[in-house]
Amino acid sequence: MDIINDPKEIQELTSRLKCSGKIISLVPTMGYFHAGHLSLMKWARENSDIVFVSLFVNPTQFGPKEDYNSYPRDFERDTKMAQEVGVDYIFAPEKDVIYEPDHGTWVSVPKLAQYLCGKSRPGHFQGVCTIVLKLFNLVNPHLAIFGKKDYQQFVIIKKMVKDLNVPVKIIGRPIVREIDGLAMSSRNSYLTQDERKQAANIYLGLKKACEWTKNGVRDSETIISKLSECYMEHIPSGEIDYIEIVDPTDLTPVKTIDKEAILAVAIYLGKARLIDNILLEVK
Ligand code: PAF
Repeated sequence: MDIINDPKEIQELTSRLKCSGKIISLVPTMGYFHAGHLSLMKWARENSDIVFVSLFVNPTQFGPKEDYNSYPRDFERDTKMAQEVGVDYIFAPEKDVIYEPDHGTWVSVPKLAQYLCGKSRPGHFQGVCTIVLKLFNLVNPHLAIFGKKDYQQFVIIKKMVKDLNVPVKIIGRPIVREIDGLAMSSRNSYLTQDERKQAANIYLGLKKACEWTKNGVRDSETIISKLSECYMEHIPSGEIDYIEIVDPTDLTPVKTIDKEAILAVAIYLGKARLIDNILLEVK
């Protein structure tokens, strides 16, 4: 496995590889790998010839009071883990090379960014779209693989690619969970032992909500208020940022669940802000 820092080098390499007919995949990441990241890399390994993983903690998607400086980083451990699952190249550029001092172009999908996490993280998805488009332009992959824990990010990137005719296929992969159900996230490392125990109830609550829907509760408000009570009881140290039920494609709020919908939640717990989601089915 090779590590490349220079954007020009990566662009030259990938255009050579593409000319020789290789199928290239990219797994964009901010590092501090866990089994969720590895599942994306393994999928890429099985479905393409050359696997690139970008490892870049993107400053522009963090708000001024967010955890950019404290975001967990462990480059050596990450490179070892990536190598073990057969990644071919890690692209790990420096911040100042990706964002030159005169950087002045931003990509946003405001209609989709106004919902869910976009409300409490203004500018976040603009930072995500801008870096992801830059990575697409540098690596020029056929396939790019994203986890569906960041469901809104996945929908926004698909829309950006469609609207801007970016020649890449976006693949969304299922959420990978700990044994007790907590969605894997680099930010889980912020949790104390007690918070970590409480955090498992995020998914347990989502599963209950699925059952309520299956048993005939179709009114979103009822589900949201039952789930909010459940979280207040079982995650006493947490603070709910949002619990929302939205359309899986355009993220608009759903009032009555008469077809598939996404139940998405964000909860502040200690130093972490945890997100998770589940598909609600009516049959
Ligand atoms: O999901 C992430 O880790 C980041 O938002 C991404 C897509 C790598 C962009 O920085």
